[in-house]
Amino acid sequence: MLKRSLSLLFMMVVISLLVACGSDSESSNDAADENASNEETDNNSESTGSGEGGTLEIFSWWTGAGEEDGLLALIDLFESKYPDVAVENAAVAGGAGTNAKAVLAARMQGNDPPSTFQVHGGAELNESWVAADMMEPLNDFYEEYELMDKFPEELIDLVSKDGNIYSVPVNIHRGNVIFYNKAVFEENGISEPTTLDEFMDVLQQLQDAGVTPLAMGDKEAWTATQIFENLLLATLGPDDYRNLWTGDVAFDDDRIVEAAEYFQTILGYVNEDHASRNWQDAAQLVGEGEAGMTNMGDWAKGYFSNDLELETNVDFGYFAFPGTTEDFMVITDTFGLPKGVEDPELVKEFLNVLASQEGQDAFNPLKGSIPARVDADPSKYDEYGTDTMEDFQNSNLTPSLAHGSAASEGFLTKVNQEVNIFVTQQNVEQFIEKLVQAAGDL
Ligand code: GAL
Repeated sequence: MLKRSLSLLFMMVVISLLVACGSDSESSNDAADENASNEETDNNSESTGSGEGGTLEIFSWWTGAGEEDGLLALIDLFESKYPDVAVENAAVAGGAGTNAKAVLAARMQGNDPPSTFQVHGGAELNESWVAADMMEPLNDFYEEYELMDKFPEELIDLVSKDGNIYSVPVNIHRGNVIFYNKAVFEENGISEPTTLDEFMDVLQQLQDAGVTPLAMGDKEAWTATQIFENLLLATLGPDDYRNLWTGDVAFDDDRIVEAAEYFQTILGYVNEDHASRNWQDAAQLVGEGEAGMTNMGDWAKGYFSNDLELETNVDFGYFAFPGTTEDFMVITDTFGLPKGVEDPELVKEFLNVLASQEGQDAFNPLKGSIPARVDADPSKYDEYGTDTMEDFQNSNLTPSLAHGSAASEGFLTKVNQEVNIFVTQQNVEQFIEKLVQAAGDL
């Protein structure tokens, strides 16, 4: 009986992921193909290791601009310590795991798990792979390497279910960030807005100045979902935002209608070709001064610094999504040990490098994230990193929906679809109705 319900759960995850891929590709159009500058490619790179010490396959969606530098640094570090291990970088392109999650689901179902894979802490880990009994508990690993007090309790909770720990966080990204072009703000005498109403004023000021106010790239729908989740956080506040995921706040609450109305207003200020751009293409508009701002998780910081070679607080600035200045939308990338892999001990060696100070400080300064460890070396990070470390300490921490922590994959898939429809049709009433229906799956 348990087996049947697990395989049913599993099928639901697979189907919702495959549907998600389909809907995302529908939202792109031909202009996307012309937009090749930041187009990502799969990145199944060859290892430098001899392979005598075994093979380690690392599965993620970190390919291309702004995404892969951190991972490659971590792999280099691992290879320097384990030169006889062949590392296979099995990354599948597509932001937020748009394509990777479906590939992973098919592999897991076919009993062909990668040695380790990228998974967000929270529901994405616990309600899919852990619930389907496909992950090894890592409690002994945490004890052996004395990791229990090296991560904030909130993060350990996100990667735990029923008293067992199932993965190791490599980073903490912040999702409620607006990045902006410093020169554009200065030239137009604009200061950083802190409330939603001030934000609306800034959008209008930029419009009047002839600049695209907000760059959006929703070729993959999650980027628009991310804007909406930040609006939910702004109108509901952190407590009731969290209560959404337990069913204690209903999706037809007035403050959710208000968030949808703000969303509609904001959509009047985005670039016309938003549906053919990905997040990097949108961020690039800000980098080049064609757009004033973009809302993106701080992997965009990695893109600005590493790929566009822009300087923090000189070329680009940042502020918390208006209305959420006291809050921190937490996104954590983690890696675990799937059941049935060939060499679990080797996977643990990798997880240990990823969990180490050295590993986290090799990865995170390039990725734009802050270390998940509490004792990493702040001198390795620029002002964006140190500001964010401080904010993490002093903010209300809230789980991201768009990045898998807050709710099940099935619910997220439906929200992405409805957000996609809303962006085109902008029908608030219909959007709320659909969210209420989808919430039945929470
Ligand atoms: C998130 C992930 C980040 C970044 C982003 C864009 O889901 O946590 O590390 O990769 O997607 O792809």
